[in-house]
Amino acid sequence: MNIRPARVMDVKEIHKLVEYHANNKEMLHRSLSAIYENIQEFVVLESEDNIVGCGALHVSWENLAEIKALAVSDKYKGQGFGRKIVKILQDNAKNLGVSRVFALSFKPKFFIKLGYEIIPKETLPHKIWSECINCHLFSECGEVPLLITLK
Ligand SMILES: CC(C)(COP(=O)(O)OP(=O)(O)OC[C@H]1O[C@@H](n2cnc3c(N)ncnc32)[C@H](O)[C@@H]1OP(=O)(O)O)[C@@H](O)C(=O)NCCC(=O)NCCS
Repeated sequence: MNIRPARVMDVKEIHKLVEYHANNKEMLHRSLSAIYENIQEFVVLESEDNIVGCGALHVSWENLAEIKALAVSDKYKGQGFGRKIVKILQDNAKNLGVSRVFALSFKPKFFIKLGYEIIPKETLPHKIWSECINCHLFSECGEVPLLITLK
């Protein structure tokens, strides 16, 4: 098992993984085009030649980045890979000079395990919530905002 920066040829598999979990209402859908356009933000978990996990780090603002599109395929869940992907994305944040990392998640307990704290959404920059207005789930979204300050 190996976690590495994503490449363009990984996009279709990343998309398949995200679609699977989005169809189970565990995360939001993400278009192929959105993944291609942001491929530099992604890391993938690879088993032999298959992509079995992914996650992305998106810089949102001064000293603030978001963990997005985090998923581990069912077969590999509960083995610490989600935690490892988050750790690598946090290291990427540190390398970029960002110490505050947040997530909008349907799985707050997972992020709390990793040291994140639930925050009021109003404490995030307005720009982040303006993106939500374009989402079809806007009025009924159950995503919870969580934040960690990296040491
Ligand atoms: C959430 C997800 C990424 C976790 O990945 P994972 O590899 O199974 O998680 P890990 O094995 O690294 O778990 C790390 C810790 O979090 C806990 N944990 C994992 N998923 C959890 C959940 N859904 N609720 C509560 N705790 C959870 C684990 O028990 C573990 O705790 P421990 O260190 O005390 O043993 C994975 O379940 C997944 O892909 N889910 C579907 C997509 C999704 O929900 N994405 C989240 C963004 S909205």
